Amino acid sequence: MLFDTHAHLDDEKYDVDRDEVIKNIYDEGISLLVNVGSDMESSEKALELAKKYSFIYAAVGVHPYSAPHLTEEDICYLKEMTKDKKVVAIGEIGLDYHFEDTDRIGQKKGFIRQIELARELDLPYIVHDRDSHQDCYDIIKNSGYLRGVMHCFSGSSEFAKQMVDLGFYISFAGTVTFKNAKKVHEAAKTVPLERLLIETDSPYLAPEPYRGKRNNPLNVIKTLEAIADIKGISIEKLARITMENGKTFFGINQKAGLL
Ligand code: NI
Repeated sequence: MLFDTHAHLDDEKYDVDRDEVIKNIYDEGISLLVNVGSDMESSEKALELAKKYSFIYAAVGVHPYSAPHLTEEDICYLKEMTKDKKVVAIGEIGLDYHFEDTDRIGQKKGFIRQIELARELDLPYIVHDRDSHQDCYDIIKNSGYLRGVMHCFSGSSEFAKQMVDLGFYISFAGTVTFKNAKKVHEAAKTVPLERLLIETDSPYLAPEPYRGKRNNPLNVIKTLEAIADIKGISIEKLARITMENGKTFFGINQKAGLL
């Protein structure tokens, strides 16, 4: 019984076999999954999937790449979508400085506006942070609304500790399985068990030994194994803890079935 807290099953890479993939992961032990939106269209699709499958929940929000174009109409529409109880978070939102020519000011505005939205709606939020640790930290701290998770954590153990001290959860993806990802391993060591979440970010970031392939939520077991090893606890225990953490963070109490 595993909880993949971050996947994009609406992605076109699943267009050929989406329903088959979803039935299979449910049968094989993924009992909860949050499908995360990255723009208006994928947020809509995330909600559609969540309405169709009982064990799938949705996050709606606009990724930093699209955030500079976020309008107040978009905000209204996101708000409208959150009226459905299957929407459990705002996300993914944040900052991404990977590409030099990106509109950082626009990204920051979109991020701040969506944290405000989460606060207004009393929902947690999912943060995408790529090469932008300090600015993410400053914006989050200054917002004063600290109900978030750092998704696919890529920072140092010091940064993990800073975020945990703010009250944040830290989510690890398949990158923690990479042998040379020493920094991520150190970070995973630092995060207290009660603040840990696991995810796949499917279809991206396939873990070892599937690097480069289309990822599948079932691979969340690989993340779990890697962290259990780092923490020196059993896979079963860590599965139970991350399941409970995920339910607490997203406010999910029901027992979900497939349909
Ligand atoms: Ni993602």
